[in-house]
Amino acid sequence: MSTTTSSTIAIPKIRAIPRHVAIIMDGNGRWARQRFLPRIAGHRRGVDNVRSAVRACAEKGVEFLTLFAFSSENWRRPADEVSFLMQLFVIALEQEVAKLHENNIRFKVIGDLSRFEPRLTRLIADAEQLTRDNTRLTLTVAANYGGRWDMIQAVTRMLKDQPQLAHGFAEADLLPYLSMAYAPEPDLFIRTGGEQRISNFLLWQLAYAELYFTDTLWPDFDATALEQAIASYQQRERRFGRTSEQLQEVPAESPLRRVTEGR
Ligand code: IPE
Ligand code: IPE
Ligand code: MG
Repeated sequence: MSTTTSSTIAIPKIRAIPRHVAIIMDGNGRWARQRFLPRIAGHRRGVDNVRSAVRACAEKGVEFLTLFAFSSENWRRPADEVSFLMQLFVIALEQEVAKLHENNIRFKVIGDLSRFEPRLTRLIADAEQLTRDNTRLTLTVAANYGGRWDMIQAVTRMLKDQPQLAHGFAEADLLPYLSMAYAPEPDLFIRTGGEQRISNFLLWQLAYAELYFTDTLWPDFDATALEQAIASYQQRERRFGRTSEQLQEVPAESPLRRVTEGR
């Protein structure tokens, strides 16, 4: 919990490679439709692509990769699609967790797990336990996750622990209770599939993330596409409220300079 950081409390150090990349993996259904395949074929390919995204991020030196797999609003989909997605999650965990562990990857799930079948929650708990001390990359899957849910669960747990805070609390009081308290805030947010919206993903944590939207559908988002997103990120001037002139005053060796100069 001591890693808790906040871009609104302190200006984070900026590096050429984003420490934390958060992705809305969108476009599986359209990928399938373009090929006259059922939507579920797109989801299958989407899971395959998670494997390559994890590899590409680990090779690039990204420390945290967070993937939106199922939103709190995705229960509104047809029951057979929802049930297929749950099955796919179970199968992916059964097949992939050992490999993640071999590759020194820590696995985490954020979201309201109370609605999942016991089999799935057990697989998640086991995977988190097995990989908890791994250090190469932290892979977080957001499942039945919603940014609003996250804030509400954080406030609820905080007030349960510290009822006196009902009279008023500060950002730092709340931070340890947010579901990504173990990670720095995302530096780079990517949404595939062409939509330009957040869809109730990490509402709190994205406060100062650099946003990148691409028309590429998730099953087609490969290592080259990731490179392009990171290249775009490296062109951004991350000011965190300051002026551009203030950034120029920062000494050349400082990590607060423009992202590209840190390369
Ligand atoms: C994203 O792909 C995967 C999930 C939301 C589970 P979609 O299923 O939303 O694909 P499109 O947006 O219909 O193409
Ligand atoms: C967002 O995608 C959620 C995930 C990728 C898991 P959606 O496809 O559900 O988002 P909307 O409905 O187009 O906003
Ligand atoms: Mg979609």
